[in-house]
Amino acid sequence: MRFGRWLRRLRRGGPKTMTSLEAYRLWAEAYPPAPHNRLMEVEQAAMLRLMPSLKGKLVLDLASGTGRYGLVAWKHQARGALALDNSPDMLARNPLTRRVLASAERLPLRGASFDVVVCALALGHLPDLKDALHEIARVLKPGGAALISDLHPLMFCRGAQRTFTTAAGTFAVEHYNHLFSDYHSAACSAGLVLDAVAEPSLEERDNLPVVIVYRFVRPGSVI
Ligand SMILES: C[S@@+](CC[C@H](N)C(=O)[O-])C[C@H]1O[C@@H](n2cnc3c(N)ncnc32)[C@H](O)[C@@H]1O
Repeated sequence: MRFGRWLRRLRRGGPKTMTSLEAYRLWAEAYPPAPHNRLMEVEQAAMLRLMPSLKGKLVLDLASGTGRYGLVAWKHQARGALALDNSPDMLARNPLTRRVLASAERLPLRGASFDVVVCALALGHLPDLKDALHEIARVLKPGGAALISDLHPLMFCRGAQRTFTTAAGTFAVEHYNHLFSDYHSAACSAGLVLDAVAEPSLEERDNLPVVIVYRFVRPGSVI
């Protein structure tokens, strides 16, 4: 769908809002493991710019959906990649063989077991960032990095909602507008250090950022 139409459909007062679980149950079938709109294209380009080398690394694709960043990890020669999501429907369509059904807020994974955690366009579905950021810090090895993207808070100041369309109609998905300071304080209290930020925009529009990408590191020896 073109971004302009998507943004107009995001205006408040329209579609019924669903929980993330309800929404991805309906959406999973049509959710490809690749960017499927301009926003995702610029998000993925910014994520790749900030991504450390994945060659030989163990990668957790947190809130993996149908596998977009797990496939990136394989393409970049990661040693292993694990997909984790709380939606059984999204996870069932994920091509990775190592998959875990769980919430980002409570990971059934050993501490210090991943070099890189990727979490794309998902933490906005959580009302609070604290538990997820603590879990990300816990499972990262010292010196490991977390790449986290979210819809840019300015999008919601412009009246946006997250929506998707199926044969049954257009629906909104619950989203919580986390500011830069929310991410920063949740990460600091988890012991993570903010290393880099990107705020890509759509040049064909008004140059206001549509996405924010954070790179956090767990202090320790550099990977
Ligand atoms: C917009 S999709 C993004 C999927 C994938 N990361 C990507 O970028 O293609 C958001 C994903 O977050 C997952 N999600 C939402 N809340 C979650 C939670 N508390 N724990 C784990 N996954 C969650 C959803 O099921 C969905 O697969």
